[in-house]
Amino acid sequence: MSRKILVTSALPYANGAIHLGHLVEYIQTDIWTRFQKMRGHQCVYCCADDTHGTPIMLRAEKEGITPEQLIDRVWHEHKRDFDGFHVEFDNYYSTNTPETRHYADTIYGRLKEAGLIEIRSIEQYYDPVKEMFLPDRFIKGECPKCHAKDQYGDNCEACGAAYQPTDLIEPYSAVSGAKPVRKSSDHHFFKLSDPRCANFLKDWIANPEHVQSEAANKLGEWLQAGLSDWDISRDAPYFGFEIPDAPSKYYYVWLDAPIGYMGSFQNYCDKNGLDFDEYWKPDSEAELYHFIGKDILYFHALFWPAELAHAGFRTPTGVFCHGFLTVNGTKMSKSRGTFITAESYLNHLNPEWLRYYYAAKLNGSMEDIDLNLEDFAARVNSDLVGKYVNIASRCAGFISKKFAGKLGTCDAAATAEFVAAFDKGEIAQSYEDRDYGRALREIMRLADVANQYIAEKKPWAMAKQEGREAELHEVCSTALTLFRDLTLYLKPVLPKLAEQVEDFLNLQPLTWTGAWAPLPAGHAINEYQHLMTRIDPKKIEIMVEENKQSLAPTPEFANTPTPVRHAEHQQAKVEAEAAATPWEPFISIDDFTKVDLRIVRIANAEHVIGADKLLKLTLDLGTETRTVFAGIKSAYAPETLIGRLTVMVANLAPRKMKFGMSEGMVLAASDERGGPFLLSPDSGAQPGMRIK
Ligand code: MSP
Ligand code: ZN
Repeated sequence: MSRKILVTSALPYANGAIHLGHLVEYIQTDIWTRFQKMRGHQCVYCCADDTHGTPIMLRAEKEGITPEQLIDRVWHEHKRDFDGFHVEFDNYYSTNTPETRHYADTIYGRLKEAGLIEIRSIEQYYDPVKEMFLPDRFIKGECPKCHAKDQYGDNCEACGAAYQPTDLIEPYSAVSGAKPVRKSSDHHFFKLSDPRCANFLKDWIANPEHVQSEAANKLGEWLQAGLSDWDISRDAPYFGFEIPDAPSKYYYVWLDAPIGYMGSFQNYCDKNGLDFDEYWKPDSEAELYHFIGKDILYFHALFWPAELAHAGFRTPTGVFCHGFLTVNGTKMSKSRGTFITAESYLNHLNPEWLRYYYAAKLNGSMEDIDLNLEDFAARVNSDLVGKYVNIASRCAGFISKKFAGKLGTCDAAATAEFVAAFDKGEIAQSYEDRDYGRALREIMRLADVANQYIAEKKPWAMAKQEGREAELHEVCSTALTLFRDLTLYLKPVLPKLAEQVEDFLNLQPLTWTGAWAPLPAGHAINEYQHLMTRIDPKKIEIMVEENKQSLAPTPEFANTPTPVRHAEHQQAKVEAEAAATPWEPFISIDDFTKVDLRIVRIANAEHVIGADKLLKLTLDLGTETRTVFAGIKSAYAPETLIGRLTVMVANLAPRKMKFGMSEGMVLAASDERGGPFLLSPDSGAQPGMRIK
């Protein structure tokens, strides 16, 4: 029976870059939704940027742009990173949209009608210069315990003490530096302490389908301790939605963030003709799952279901909570270079390597998962390249060379044995349970069986002996059938590799439905193209180095205030930009189109003996390669360039240089602030594409 499933990942904050920690969640969710789709279910994966709140407002201000401009830029950066990791949302939206506002107003209005909203006056720190109330993290001062200076309003980084902002000695505003004053203001509260909420939640978390048992324990403790009412409003100035019946009061970001799931889905429905209510009405038969990290369990398993239940909507079918990423056994760290952004990973390494490694480590629990960089290389190289890809690379050549690219009949006994040796149902169940580690162990056991078959048959020996053609044909065809099966099982984890294999084996997109059959005799396949290279541990080292150097002055956690240091940096940036190189005179579009700009892949890069500025680049334009000498040696180690895409002027007349002929030019930016910086296209661009 085909299920209707709506899946979400938490909405990343729109004021920070996607990093490898985030990707634990998005890759995990993507694997699950791809699996459901391959099973023939109607599964929709929605997400969005979480765009509201004080940090975003202040950051935009510091950058001298509007919050709308900031969130628009970040949206594109996030989308680029997710695309780069093949995270395939059905809709990637924003919370700053009419749909999200509509559902925020609906939910707020209905909670109010139900008597679950209360207005209360509270006293908070206020910045008299900036004329705004200060969230805890924007108040700094001396730690009341250890007397360390410049500590945040909620806890001390020097001694670890937790306290209230009012406990700080000599508090000051991290926004303006002014001494904050205490001021009271009306706030809107969601009455979570109402017995209706507590009773509902007690039952809700008792159902093991709703939350994992570890989560249920934690939630039980919170419930036991008693739930406090939840402050859901903030005063102007604030970037968010103004509360309709309360001028200059805004919904707190966490009120509209999960509602962004509904907003994104509504937008998807409008574009695809689906019925929103069918998924969100109280007795809906559709399933709704939220993938989240353990830091936001409280919001998703207490606030959110309680809000939905009392606002006339369905509640989640399940909240799937995961642990945090550690790198080499400890918290991601900027000084160690292990706070790795998605972007820098993609500059050096293949996204499917990380997808595979994360999948191998995920088991559906809330345990933290460790990215051990040495183990990462070893695991990917041995499993994916050594075991899986190896099957195709050892057999495909014979089919092309000796049998005109056509398969023969499979070895019935061997395939039967193979199919019997593994449990397709168990693999499916493991994916369903989000125990991808177990699925991959089973799949790799299968790869071992296939490799063992090849090792026993020795096709390379058969190929050298007269009269063994039929046998060789059978062995290779059998092995490629097994390879097809492995590809099918790995496809949720390795979608791009699976596509390459579908091309190579000349197959329709592999799905999990239908009866099993070997590849038929006479089936034509394409010439084998190299599928996946080994991880070169050097590239990992280079990536880690790069993340150490690019110690960007942005905060580690998206919702912490931008340090003052950052403000200075931004100021310097703005000034430098104002003093930039003067513009060139206007040209016509015809002048511009005379310049043939193309995407190229740097196929090779090497030092030039005797040249202290130049690197010799071999550029792949898709249809041909060019040699170009580029003056970028001061900024790039040649090995970091190999494989990356950039932009070249393809019709610059060849120029004879001291070291050889230069057949074009690569483009790079520079001025007194630094450089040269090579250009990179967005993901999807291919060598040879024209830039216009
Ligand atoms: N904006 C909120 C979520 C709102 S959902 C209605 C938020 N954003 S976040 O950018 O900080 O995090 C997004 C997701 O990534 C969260 O589920 C979070 O747990 C997860 N992760 C962020 N850092 C992580 C690790 N280091 N490791 C694993 N997951 C992590 O929270
Ligand atoms: Zn302290």
